[in-house]
Amino acid sequence: MLGSKRILLIIGGGIAAYKSLDLIRRLRERGASVRAILTRAGAEFVTPLSVSSLTGDKVYQDLFSLTDEAEMGHIQLSRDADLLVVAPATADLIAKMATGRADDLASTALLATDKPVLIAPAMNVRMWLHPATQRNIAQLQTDRVSLVGPNDGDMACGEFGPGRMAEPLEIVAAVEAAFGAPRLLDGISALVTAGPTLEPIDPVRFISNRSSGKQGYAIAGALAGLGAKTTLVSGPTSLATPQGVNRIAVETAHEMLAACEGALPTDVAVCAAAVADWRIDHTANQKIKKTAGGLPSLKLIENPDILHTLATRGTSRPRLVIGFAAETEKVVEHAKAKRAKKGCDWIVANDVSPATGVMGGDENTVHIVSAAGVETWPKLAKRDVAAKLAQKIAAHLKGAAA
Ligand code: C5P
Repeated sequence: MLGSKRILLIIGGGIAAYKSLDLIRRLRERGASVRAILTRAGAEFVTPLSVSSLTGDKVYQDLFSLTDEAEMGHIQLSRDADLLVVAPATADLIAKMATGRADDLASTALLATDKPVLIAPAMNVRMWLHPATQRNIAQLQTDRVSLVGPNDGDMACGEFGPGRMAEPLEIVAAVEAAFGAPRLLDGISALVTAGPTLEPIDPVRFISNRSSGKQGYAIAGALAGLGAKTTLVSGPTSLATPQGVNRIAVETAHEMLAACEGALPTDVAVCAAAVADWRIDHTANQKIKKTAGGLPSLKLIENPDILHTLATRGTSRPRLVIGFAAETEKVVEHAKAKRAKKGCDWIVANDVSPATGVMGGDENTVHIVSAAGVETWPKLAKRDVAAKLAQKIAAHLKGAAA
């Protein structure tokens, strides 16, 4: 909760500014009061009217506004807050902060403040990775500015990579952390598996599953964001490790199982990995040569079932074990059967038939199958599925502890 905390939100000019409207709502829901500065570029993306309707206050836009200066003054504006949040923090705002420029209301308030500052960067991937931006970020970290995100993902400009602004709930968690507020999963440990496994045929070939790892990574990030000590055991993916998560990289199902067992005991385990069901019986030590007229025959043998192993471990079983079920038909029915077969507590089931675009995509419609029944969530971004699941895990573990 953020009761009585005063936040000065600076909204920079980026497409992510629309998420800042939701951020205002989420902060106020938790009891914070929010005052907003909208930069000139920010006003190209969201209107002052939307911002002021959500803050319930006027919007501050102009450094040389006589009324504003008479009423409160730009120095007072930043002094009156307990925390300054810049979201979206554009490359330009970050550069101004790093060099101490003050040529508009936002940069002046940032220079005039003696309060902690949290920024949520959002920009094109190349701008984020540019040495100039990275230099500026390093400078801000030296200046004790806190950072949330940016996240990896598809960008409005059509590219993929780091640069997406953190989601509103992630920013809220960072705001809570900045105030040292106890987080919902402080003291809880979590294990998450994600991505595919890769089973070698010979030194250059392998069999694997289709899996981007996006949902599992988002879950690990959401759990860590709520304070859980989170270990992510991941097969090969192209994703960046979420903030605050300890990632152990593995390739095969056997390595994944060993890494999971090494991470125990934990309070909760979430198995989101697409583990290959089979591996090659005898992996060749040398590359198998193509020989005229002959095809190699591969004998497959079964891989360990990591979810089942964790769910049936007796005394070292995590208190809450969650599996996933990717189905293409009779989703809930199959998920119920899978829950019984695997011995886990919840199954997060989703329809992955090609028409849904779930595989590799950013959205998901899931059903949570537990002893209590079936809960169906609306279609959500994978990051929001992760945030909601982390909240549900927190409520369950707290309820169990009470
Ligand atoms: O049996 P199926 O692969 O459909 O089950 C999916 C669930 O089981 C997922 O949670 C997945 O992470 C987990 N699983 C596992 N080890 C395997 C196969 C699946 O942990 N070998």
